[in-house]
Amino acid sequence: MGSSRRSVRTQSSLLFVFRKKLGFTGTKVGCERGECGACTVLVDRVPHCTCMMLALEAEILIPKSPPGLRTSYRKVRVREAWDFAVAGVALALVFKGDRVERGGVVLSGAAPIPWRSRAVEQVVSGGKLDAEAAEGSAEAAVKGAEPLAQNGCKIPLFRSIVVDELTRLARL
Ligand code: FES
Repeated sequence: MGSSRRSVRTQSSLLFVFRKKLGFTGTKVGCERGECGACTVLVDRVPHCTCMMLALEAEILIPKSPPGLRTSYRKVRVREAWDFAVAGVALALVFKGDRVERGGVVLSGAAPIPWRSRAVEQVVSGGKLDAEAAEGSAEAAVKGAEPLAQNGCKIPLFRSIVVDELTRLARL
């Protein structure tokens, strides 16, 4: 992993190493028999079930973070941690001083797949992240959204979590 090395037992699955040794809990545990796909990651751009791979079959390279990177993830859910997101936002912004050079923004619970919001990225990139930029980003996040009959409540929810998380990152 980058310049650091960790040793693991030869019989450990890649799933075990991800979750227990590296803390990458985004890789989920399901059937542990290679059937459900919950533990799938891309290995050389090909999907693999990590529960069926030995850790010694893989080399994990994690690129160095750029200077000024600040990240956050907020997931609003009805039940506890295991529930799907009603609305979520993941942010990765590269700051130079109090200005955002560039950013990546992904919404969860907005579409059947994680939804990269290039509209929000454009609003936050290249300027100071102040209250006006946060409000503009919130509007960009929901612009053109067409809620279904039962989920119109997501619109104000997305607006507020985008503002909250951007404001939080600006203060770090
Ligand atoms: S946990 Fe089900 S395929 Fe790996």
